Amino acid sequence: MSKPVSFNNTVLRDGHQSLAATRMTTAQMLPAAPLLDGLGFAGLETWGGATIDSCLRFLNENPFDRLRALKKAAPQTPQIMLLRGQNIVQYTSFPDDVVTAFVNCTVKAGCDILRIFDALNDLRNLATAIKATKAAGAHARGEICFTTSPVHTIEAFVQMGIELQKMGSDSIGIKDMSGVLPPRTCHEMVTQLKKRTGLPVTVHTHDTAGLSVATYIAATEAGADAVEVSIAPFANGTAQPDTVRMIAALEGYDRCPKFHTPTLTKLGDYFKGVYADLGKFTSTANERVDSDTLCYQVPGGMLSNFRTQLKEQKMMDKFDEVMREVPIVREALGWIPLVTPTSQIVGTQAMLNVKFGRWKNLSQATQDIALGKYGRTPGPVSPDLLKLVTDKTGQKPITGRLADSLQPRMPKLREDLAKAGLPTDDEACVLHAMFPMEFTNLHKPKPAPASAAAAPVVVNTPAPAPATAKSAAPAPTATLAPAGNGGPRKYAMTIGGRRIETTVEELN
Ligand code: CO
Repeated sequence: MSKPVSFNNTVLRDGHQSLAATRMTTAQMLPAAPLLDGLGFAGLETWGGATIDSCLRFLNENPFDRLRALKKAAPQTPQIMLLRGQNIVQYTSFPDDVVTAFVNCTVKAGCDILRIFDALNDLRNLATAIKATKAAGAHARGEICFTTSPVHTIEAFVQMGIELQKMGSDSIGIKDMSGVLPPRTCHEMVTQLKKRTGLPVTVHTHDTAGLSVATYIAATEAGADAVEVSIAPFANGTAQPDTVRMIAALEGYDRCPKFHTPTLTKLGDYFKGVYADLGKFTSTANERVDSDTLCYQVPGGMLSNFRTQLKEQKMMDKFDEVMREVPIVREALGWIPLVTPTSQIVGTQAMLNVKFGRWKNLSQATQDIALGKYGRTPGPVSPDLLKLVTDKTGQKPITGRLADSLQPRMPKLREDLAKAGLPTDDEACVLHAMFPMEFTNLHKPKPAPASAAAAPVVVNTPAPAPATAKSAAPAPTATLAPAGNGGPRKYAMTIGGRRIETTVEELN
């Protein structure tokens, strides 16, 4: 009897990133972590992708603290993160020293497996991250971004897998961010990758177009080592299929894994509550199977983003027109896969083309892709578009790796942080490199947690710009009088000698 297929669980990363705008907080994750840990998943995807951005921008959390807390709460199961190669978890290339420092901090904070990809599948953009992951003693899973186009063939993807093996990948991931990987194609890719690399193969898909379960059955039959599932309601639709659903679909196969169903039910009940609490960020459009992703070849997350963007631009009546423009932009940019950040770039350019006329208004990112600054495109950039860009910018396309032209940045980052009176350790440096404003905000003085016993605290806040040069108002002070019991807190502030009383409550 063959070994059961392993399940990795994505509920704490891709599940809520795909269905709830990445807004699940660490506090909402922690009660579930020990239960997830005991179930026998081969890995828990808990970090990376958009979660680091979301922690800093929306949740006022230190993302490394989240990783440490989850590692402590779920110590038995390897923790997985998603890394955008040279872009780390941002949209543009960073110097090698920043990428390496980020990987070191990540592994030190408790991450065991790093899924590393590049939006253009340009292997040069994975090299530093793979090397650093191996050197830090963690598992490097080199990812192949699956997409369909005239220049993408099964053989080309398999060749990429062979290259990833040569670069030191411990395993290969097939990353189908749009949920467009047909079961037979998946079967063929897994078979070939296993045969020709001998490495473990994991398949990661989304249920956007309803293909996920069929694709995972095909992957299992072809000998894939692992597939990635989530837990409803943070599952299905634009996320991974639900664990219970996937087990049911594999029932009767000799590789069907065994899970403790009552615990899965308990987790499902718990996450229903979290999903309801995040109601502001969920949408029925993301929960539905949507075959638009197949005809437009656009990832599900991009479709929902698009609807919002077009509404904001008062262009909702142009939805179909913009969608039809997407493959035209993609072809002109050398058939790049659509995954962060290229999905946003192609989507925005398609919108600009419809609004102002084709190529009349070129976004900076479109110009940079054409100039090779994101890496080597899978097919050639359209000569007409390239001429437009080179004429406009006076620049020639680069053929090397952008990061080769970037100076090391860690010493300067540390210096800047020291000047600003912020922490200067490597974690601080790498977060500051990617999210300077958000990282600074994280360290702004915050109200002390409500506690009946706490003594009032006096906070000095920077003086507001004086209205006239001669006014010399004293620096404002705020007296924090915690009300206790986690309810609204009362504050008394003195601004320009005037005492103002106010009540502040926490909004999550
Ligand atoms: Co995904």
